[in-house]
Amino acid sequence: MANDKKLMRALHGEVQETPPVWMMRQAGRYLPEYRSIRTQAGDFLSLCYTPDLAAEVTLQPIRRYGFDAAILFADILLIPHALGVDLSFESGEGPRLSTVTDRASLTSLRPAEDVHLTLAPVYETLRILSDALPAQTALIGFAGAPWTVATYMVAGCGTPDQQPAHALRNADPETFDALIDLLSEATISYLSAQIEAGAEAVKLFDSWAGSLKGTAFERYSAEPVRRIVASLKSRWPDVPVIAFPRGAGDRYRGFARGTGADCVALDTEVDVRWASEHVQVDSCVQGNLDPRHLVTGGQAMVNETRRIVSALSGGPYVFNLGHGITPDADPSNVYRILEAIRG
Ligand code: CP3
Repeated sequence: MANDKKLMRALHGEVQETPPVWMMRQAGRYLPEYRSIRTQAGDFLSLCYTPDLAAEVTLQPIRRYGFDAAILFADILLIPHALGVDLSFESGEGPRLSTVTDRASLTSLRPAEDVHLTLAPVYETLRILSDALPAQTALIGFAGAPWTVATYMVAGCGTPDQQPAHALRNADPETFDALIDLLSEATISYLSAQIEAGAEAVKLFDSWAGSLKGTAFERYSAEPVRRIVASLKSRWPDVPVIAFPRGAGDRYRGFARGTGADCVALDTEVDVRWASEHVQVDSCVQGNLDPRHLVTGGQAMVNETRRIVSALSGGPYVFNLGHGITPDADPSNVYRILEAIRG
């Protein structure tokens, strides 16, 4: 039963003596067993679209560590791909996309409902995982938030400051707003299908929310998240939504209340004592160990883990990192963190 799962209980607001644990990018290149399947699949996108292999890499960190949640193995850039954007992942260089920079390139995209044509294998991965996961492990689906996905679509690659997207929203706000609308609708369709296929909670990654200032943050980060949450909640009021407005700073305060999210994921910059006072009053929180500790390890990592857990254990809380595990992380450090939390 869903409510027996530690993760689900925390997301529904229960305070627990020992928090549930999972880690962003828990499946990935730091694990030798991942690298082996990745080689077998050929390229990263083939891995995402081959349900047996995507399910296998999702399960690898569950078998190894017994995390309380599995996160679907996929990528936030599958939505642009499903909308008709050309997408490839060059090794060591990150994603490359055909760009959307004007009305013509926007109108050449497919309608939001058509994402299912490409994304059907992702739903199959979730169905496999629903059957395969241990009874106590929750299954998390996810998508990128519209702003973050748009930054990649406009630039055609990752950027340090998301300047191309900022330039487009200033120069041609109508086209940019239409892109955000299309992504919001596509994300609602995609996450709805993920829930139907077995996702018990969903997460929205707004990794570049921090580059939006003032009213632009409200308009392009908070508002699309609110719209997606409202639509999902109208159909699945009990499916929790985790929002990750990375870099939101002070605007973490009130983000859950304003968007309807059940949990906010804290990035590494957030002071956990501040968060316990100003963020956890509205919702569950998740976070926020710096993933660099998984590279450096040692007593500093253990102490920092304990400090975070003790600051946030007075309210509903999910232990996690403040950003994803990096390929140079040492897998043995994950065992030490689990021991520090679970004893
Ligand atoms: O967390 C998980 O284990 C689930 C799977 C997952 C991946 N990407 C797998 C992946 C999730 C949730 C994501 C989210 C994602 N993807 C985000 C938001 C979170 C964040 O990190 O801020 C973003 C911005 C992306 C886009 C993306 N995907 C980039 C920029 C890259 C290249 C950088 C890199 O790490 O190589 C990817 C590729 C990617 N997505 C990998 C993995 C495991 C590495 C690909 C490989 O195996 O070669």
